[in-house]
Amino acid sequence: MLRISGHRQTALGRALLLKSRKATDLSHEQQTLQKNPLGSTGLTVSCLGLGTVKIGRNEGVKYPAGFELPDDQQVRQILHLTRELGINLIDTAPAYGSSEERLGTLLTQRHEWVICSKVGEEFADGKSFFDFSGKHVRRSIERSLKRLRTDYLDIVLVHSDGNDEDIIRSTDCLDVLNRCKEEGLLRSFGLSTKTVAGGLLAVQQSDVVMVTYNPTATADDEVIDLAHAQNKGVLIKKAFNSGHSMAESSAANDPVKANLEFIFARAGVSSVIVGTINPVHLRQNVEAAIAATRRTHTGCRDSSDR
Ligand SMILES: NC(=O)c1ccc[n+]([C@@H]2O[C@H](COP(=O)([O-])OP(=O)(O)OC[C@H]3O[C@@H](n4cnc5c(N)ncnc54)[C@H](OP(=O)(O)O)[C@@H]3O)[C@@H](O)[C@H]2O)c1
Repeated sequence: MLRISGHRQTALGRALLLKSRKATDLSHEQQTLQKNPLGSTGLTVSCLGLGTVKIGRNEGVKYPAGFELPDDQQVRQILHLTRELGINLIDTAPAYGSSEERLGTLLTQRHEWVICSKVGEEFADGKSFFDFSGKHVRRSIERSLKRLRTDYLDIVLVHSDGNDEDIIRSTDCLDVLNRCKEEGLLRSFGLSTKTVAGGLLAVQQSDVVMVTYNPTATADDEVIDLAHAQNKGVLIKKAFNSGHSMAESSAANDPVKANLEFIFARAGVSSVIVGTINPVHLRQNVEAAIAATRRTHTGCRDSSDR
């Protein structure tokens, strides 16, 4: 053990203590999932979130292989592990089959979670249909609150059908979302977009944007840049190209590591929503996200420094 005597003990000792404390803090920070402010919403989100399509819907989805919906015990386990690993953000939607209802039953300690749901897309009898009218939006939010057994939603995104600009310019969808926010039914809102022009408009007119981003889908670079400049929240969907990136897996290429490193290297990303119902995959994703944010010291970390 290092011993220091006389008056040097005070100055040098204090410096060393401070240094070792900083080292401990840093290593703790480097071993846990980074948390970021979600733009200027006042919400704080883990830089990895959990997508829950696969909890509630297995038809009409674009994953590489078919799958059975997990049973209640498996969902409980995934949710428990998710929280234990430091993830506080969970993404669902009315269009994800029974996802909202199952989360309402199986998610405990609601106040510890940041819940993101959506409006505009419905999925029934194996088909999607869309309604972006203010009337439908309000009914959908009230139904999500019931299904999720809560009295507020942290984030509500418009589940776009691809006509992003039209939804923003020609419907009363955003007006009603704004009103619902004023009434305290939701804390923030935005759009899950499918076009760059729509993404740019969404950044200007809402709190949060959700965009597709991975090494093979970079069109939304400029949307992320604008959101970063305007301090708006950015959620990433399809980080693993809905699982299709895994086809590139080889001894020399780990798509989990590669894709998360690629995404977190981009400043402005608040959180990456990865969909999984496999606990081993969930752990891998968290480990890769921690390593990626530690390596790049940008992306996630940048936004928290703002
Ligand atoms: N708003 C929208 O329009 C929209 C559209 C699409 C998605 N989203 C949201 O974004 C979330 C993510 O998108 P996504 O689910 O389409 O795609 P994704 O996150 O890119 O990929 C999910 C797929 O990758 C697999 N996977 C995850 N981690 C893995 C790992 N470590 N190793 C191997 N395979 C792994 C999953 O299978 P396992 O279950 O076997 O791990 C799943 O099939 C969705 O759940 C949803 O919440 C929103």
